Amino acid sequence: MVERSRRQVLVTGGMLGAAGALAAATPAWSWSSEGSVAGAGVGVDPKYVWDAEADPVVAAIIDSGQTTAVNKLLKTWTKNGQALPAGLPTQLRDFMEHARQLPTWTDTAKLKDAVNFNQKRGLYLGVTYGFVSGMMSTVIPREALAVYYSKGGADMRDRITKTAKLGYDVGSNNAFDPSGEMIVTCVKTRLAHAGVRHLLPQLAAWNNVASEDIPISQADIMVTWHSLPTTVMQNLNAWGVPINAVESAGFLHSWQVTAHMLGVLDEYIPNSWATANTQAAQVLTPILAPTPEGIKLADILVNLASFIDGSLLSKPILCALTRYFLGDEIAGWLKLPRYPFWDTAFQVAWKPFVAVREGLLSLEKAPGLLQAVYWAFDEILRIGVLTLLSGAQFPIAIQIPDTNNPN
Ligand code: HEM
Repeated sequence: MVERSRRQVLVTGGMLGAAGALAAATPAWSWSSEGSVAGAGVGVDPKYVWDAEADPVVAAIIDSGQTTAVNKLLKTWTKNGQALPAGLPTQLRDFMEHARQLPTWTDTAKLKDAVNFNQKRGLYLGVTYGFVSGMMSTVIPREALAVYYSKGGADMRDRITKTAKLGYDVGSNNAFDPSGEMIVTCVKTRLAHAGVRHLLPQLAAWNNVASEDIPISQADIMVTWHSLPTTVMQNLNAWGVPINAVESAGFLHSWQVTAHMLGVLDEYIPNSWATANTQAAQVLTPILAPTPEGIKLADILVNLASFIDGSLLSKPILCALTRYFLGDEIAGWLKLPRYPFWDTAFQVAWKPFVAVREGLLSLEKAPGLLQAVYWAFDEILRIGVLTLLSGAQFPIAIQIPDTNNPN
């Protein structure tokens, strides 16, 4: 591993040509920026780009022992249109004032289309964000390691609740309006990520297993981004959910704005579903792999709903759901047990279930098995939301971490 001073140079520089300094088991970046919202770019591999604006500011706050005081002030900042709290360190305030500006290419009409999409598809979005994207994150090695060894890894329910806030905010009616909260959530997430970039490299346990010197590069963020909207849309299509093209474009737009607000350069943000799918095929699919840390996180996730039924039913259903949504190979990597009844139920009855819910099929004409499990599938859609919100301490406060996972 390179020494700390070198890391600092990388962080503050924000960009580094492909110097080979970072051993990384990821394919070289070959996605063309012509397919990005910027339409062009300088072509630097985003594996070597972090957050040149946020990282030095947050590192200075942590190193000077101001994290607790700053987090206390940040807690009071909740609405997009709200003035920043008085008393923030000047550099942080300047950064936040800049970071809260929406990109010039924001299209409010498209954001309205996204609202329609989210309203109509909200139930599916809960289950796909929660369990498809959530479980997928455990086989994204860099993310699994970062989550496991960072502060939030010590309390997964709390962490998931905070992450769910972003999923909730992006789907709310006024997400990016002055009365909404999504801009605040994105800016705070940028700060949290900057904190992780500063803290994780100081942890021997993370350094021993990580394939990079600094976590959460822009390539990493886009990988996770694809585990969210791209994967969600791919699944809704695969399940036969009717998707209105205008609303689908709106949904994409809300996530393009989100990527920008999370600090991703416009040249890495896909400008269409087609270019998103191409990028995902290059950066997400090939890197999926098991890690011991990811396996432990997946185990925590499939047991998360156990407070409802002691895991008797929820665990078999969540395991079968993961197997169906992500496939046998990933379920095998995660060492998820097979549950023949529920595995078959998903294979046979999930698509008919969606068709019945969409009014495309009558329950009487659906496979007999669906009649037996309809209630359970309906519960899954509900439990997705319940599980995520059950551990929530309202208001949900995304904070700058002051330490790594203490365990
Ligand atoms: C924190 C969302 C990408 C690792 C957070 C938080 C949110 C979030 C909402 C605040 C929740 C909390 O404090 O626990 C996202 C989104 C991403 C993304 C929407 C991409 C679109 C990534 C990537 C990594 C990562 C690529 C790692 C490779 C973390 C870690 C924390 C965090 C370690 C801090 C947890 C702690 O407080 O200890 N992220 N994230 N995130 N994220 Fe991300």
